[in-house]
Amino acid sequence: MVYDRSRTPHEADLVARAFRVLPGGTLGNTYLPQDEAVLVARGKGSHVWDVSGNEYVDYLLGSGPMVLGHAHPAVVQAARDQMDRGSTFFATNEIALYLAEELVKAIPCAEQVRFFSSGTEATFYSLRLARAYSRRDKVLKFEGGFHGMHDYAVMSLNPKDPPPFPTPHPDSAGVPRVLAQEVLVAPFNDLDVTASLIRAHRQELGAVIVEPLQRVIPPGPGFLQGLRELTARFSIPLVFDEVVTGFRLAYGGAQEYYGVVPDIAAYGKIIGGGFALAAVAARQEIMRHLDPAIEGTEGYIPQIGTLSGNPIAAAAGLATLRELQRPDAYPRLFATGRAIRQALEEAIRDTEFPAQVIGEDPLFDIVFSTNPVLDYRSSLGSGTAFSRRFNALLRQQGVFRGPSKFYISLAHTEEDVKRSRQAFAHALVRLRTGA
Ligand SMILES: Cc1ncc(COP(=O)(O)O)c(C=O)c1O
Repeated sequence: MVYDRSRTPHEADLVARAFRVLPGGTLGNTYLPQDEAVLVARGKGSHVWDVSGNEYVDYLLGSGPMVLGHAHPAVVQAARDQMDRGSTFFATNEIALYLAEELVKAIPCAEQVRFFSSGTEATFYSLRLARAYSRRDKVLKFEGGFHGMHDYAVMSLNPKDPPPFPTPHPDSAGVPRVLAQEVLVAPFNDLDVTASLIRAHRQELGAVIVEPLQRVIPPGPGFLQGLRELTARFSIPLVFDEVVTGFRLAYGGAQEYYGVVPDIAAYGKIIGGGFALAAVAARQEIMRHLDPAIEGTEGYIPQIGTLSGNPIAAAAGLATLRELQRPDAYPRLFATGRAIRQALEEAIRDTEFPAQVIGEDPLFDIVFSTNPVLDYRSSLGSGTAFSRRFNALLRQQGVFRGPSKFYISLAHTEEDVKRSRQAFAHALVRLRTGA
């Protein structure tokens, strides 16, 4: 393993070419400036390699889908087998049906599902479905909540100078101004403020959408339960964005883990096994709005996607879920996460760095502040510059991660934990000394 990242002229050339044909040299997901950019060549298990041959312990995991690690043999085999049988049909197919049945079995709020190709699509249609069902227009979301990239989702996604609640801030150019009138923004984990907004707008609110674990901020005691009670009282559909938490916090997702069942849930990432697949799940009386049998009625939502329910993605997703059904899967995922998290906490303690780790064991992050983080605003000013430098130092030490979050997989080993512990200590010492 090479632990002092060096870049070959070949990789430098490819990075320069990437900056020519891709805006910012990026596919839009992980962005690094040109002198730091890493061009990934391949992945296997818990590791990825760049074009220069440097090997990294990977905590990005494709931003979460690769919970079994890269190129898991069962997933590769399932995708290959399906490829031999055809790549896509634009028609109900056998393997997508099996995946749908498994999702309905696993997800507490699900009686039916509809497939999509991305989490963005899934949250977008969750909101449309909620509005069609409730016959009201407005949407309440939480400041800093991430639901993908559609017009509603980018409202108060990461405002630098947040306006007072419930005014939304469009955190993207190109969003129609009129949409600000349709979105209310509340502080995560503040049930009092959220309750007063829901009460005041109950006649117009068509949906409340929440990440049950907002980025890495866990819900405080009673917060999700309180949301559930309030939305039920006023017949407002509650949407859980389980794109990240689904099949990660538990086989039944955040609904099972936190013990709160929403009306609608958006899924993505893990259920496609590393291919493009997402889903919306809900009770049949809600999902019926998507049933072509009611076409022509006011309640109908047309929804067509060329690759929706793609059989290769469904095969990979199903193979992934089969591995997660093993009795030791979640205990092992949590134990591995706990060990890595503890290694990070030890490094923080040993270096006396003003930082903390927040999240759940399969998914957490370091925050460069010691103030309690309960919502988006309390996460502001938590050392973005430190965070960038920390990640760069980790890369030099052979640890790869995104700008936020450590994603844990079943492929991470004790050797990875050991290697990560050294890298954490090294990076924090360097940060501490400004070296
Ligand atoms: C909570 C959450 N919702 C939705 C999305 C959007 O999913 P996708 O990137 O597949 O569009 C993401 C992506 O990271 C997410 O983290």
